[in-house]
Amino acid sequence: MEAQVTFYPAEKPIKVRVGTSLLQAVHKARIAMPTRCGGKASCMMCKIQVEEDSSAALSPPSAAERRKLGMAELEKGTRLACQCKVLGDAAIRLPENPLKAAIRRQMELKAQESDELW
Ligand code: FES
Repeated sequence: MEAQVTFYPAEKPIKVRVGTSLLQAVHKARIAMPTRCGGKASCMMCKIQVEEDSSAALSPPSAAERRKLGMAELEKGTRLACQCKVLGDAAIRLPENPLKAAIRRQMELKAQESDELW
């Protein structure tokens, strides 16, 4: 049985077998998500955001995930991709690349400065 995972903001859909880890789905979608621990819930580099209506489409948080993220983060929809299994169609928001985020912030500041000049 297959499920569709759609990754945002790129809006990239990918079909995976039910039971596939979300990190494997990320890799199958050819999205760069570097990690250091190889899926052992220790590097925290695979944090993703589950869209509101998709929480039932993933396996419940593992003990390691609960310990690492804490209930407050889990309740906000943050999960570790290496610990989630895909159970159904899901919408997942990936974090912005830190370099791209820095460039975007700089461009927003420049735009704000030039608006102030006029
Ligand atoms: S891959 Fe390291 S915490 Fe998920």
